[in-house]
Amino acid sequence: MAMWAGRFAKEIDKNVNDFNSSISFDWVMYKEDITGSMAHAAMLGAQGIISPEDSEKIIEGLKTILSDIETGELMIDPAAEDIHMFIEQELTDRIGDAGKRLHTARSRNDQVALDIRMYLKNRSKELKTELMKLIKVIVKLAERHTGTVMPGYTHLQVAQPITFAHHIMTYAWMLERDISRLDDCYKRMDVMPLGSGALAATTYPIDREMVAEALGFAGVTQNSLDGVSDRDFCAELGFVLSLVMTHLSRLSEEIILWCSSEFKFVELDDAFATGSSIMPQKKNPDVAELIRGKTGRVNGNLVTLLTMLKGIPLAYNKDMQEDKQAIFDSIDTVMLVLSAFTPMLDTMTIRKDNMRAAAAKGFINATDCADYLTKRGVPFRDAYKITGQLVRFCVENNLTLETLPLEEYRKLSDVFENDLYDAIDIEACVEQRNVLGGPSSEAVKKQIETFKQKVDI
Ligand code: ARG
Repeated sequence: MAMWAGRFAKEIDKNVNDFNSSISFDWVMYKEDITGSMAHAAMLGAQGIISPEDSEKIIEGLKTILSDIETGELMIDPAAEDIHMFIEQELTDRIGDAGKRLHTARSRNDQVALDIRMYLKNRSKELKTELMKLIKVIVKLAERHTGTVMPGYTHLQVAQPITFAHHIMTYAWMLERDISRLDDCYKRMDVMPLGSGALAATTYPIDREMVAEALGFAGVTQNSLDGVSDRDFCAELGFVLSLVMTHLSRLSEEIILWCSSEFKFVELDDAFATGSSIMPQKKNPDVAELIRGKTGRVNGNLVTLLTMLKGIPLAYNKDMQEDKQAIFDSIDTVMLVLSAFTPMLDTMTIRKDNMRAAAAKGFINATDCADYLTKRGVPFRDAYKITGQLVRFCVENNLTLETLPLEEYRKLSDVFENDLYDAIDIEACVEQRNVLGGPSSEAVKKQIETFKQKVDI
């Protein structure tokens, strides 16, 4: 019999009940629901809205429900409408009339708003811990490779030489910004909506601050309609999760490229790669590919959240039940991804020699050759043109700028001297880029220090 049976002459249609029910996915909030109800019951008792005995009974009853769910003694009923109804019904079955008083001065609308905020706050903390682990692995890799020269690319064409440390630190900065976005979003989740009631608050003399304090919220929502209507924090967290995935997907794409026999810049540990069912030679970067693929579903969840919100009038509408699967799936996906990605990166072998050999190709030092002339008075555009001619000569004659004889250089400009070869040495090209934010080993070491201070590791 449904809780609202008084108003209805018939039982709900079985299919409608299943359709309407959210318990298959909102059961994960059982702990937050119970903790929230305990704080509410304590407040009702303290304010004299229910008797201290009933308040006590409710809290004790809820405690036993929580431990019974946790030990597996109490199974969550898949036929219940949602986790809120299930727990309230279970409480009433256990303690009788006192249980029926729990919902005084409360609606499921503010209850669910509370539960999601509490649940997502907890999950955000877990996520931050996992992101920090990944950041530490990246920094460790960078620290080992401040002298590992590799080609830097634009348009995936060899551009200028950098180091692997410089390259990989880029992802540390991206993730650091993601954490700061997560912290920011957390602040907006950390506002307690209970007391908003169904939409127009309540006539009972509730103490909302007391509930907020008991549940560890930094503040209380200031408008009852907003308190039950707001799912901005779901969309915002959904975006942060999408951006995390976008960053991981970009790095995954690079790892996939680097694993190819054309690059061979890295090799995955056997435990983090997969084979082929037919081609015996294969070692596939499935983890990285799956991360790239799962980014689509996390982006899809964000669109689900924004679309769910865009057309609904104030205050609660059942559409809002769709918030949970979307945001829960995004957070579950990112957590799952990190559990595979972080150890994969940690165990990946960097093929320094292949990186260095690739950096010797593609006239990567052409800018430095032009800069050599410019530093000796030739206007940059002229120097650029002369170097372009030199590169073309090398391409036609199968030479590199390092192997091109000085007399060929001097045919185009008598500014060239023997020290040209020092200026276009690949290691020198990296080390000369010794400005703040640059790739030289000294600059990157400073960068890593600044980073570590910023994220406090
Ligand atoms: N299961 C519902 C949800 O997730 C709880 C709120 C129900 N409120 C209501 N007025 N039907 O949104």
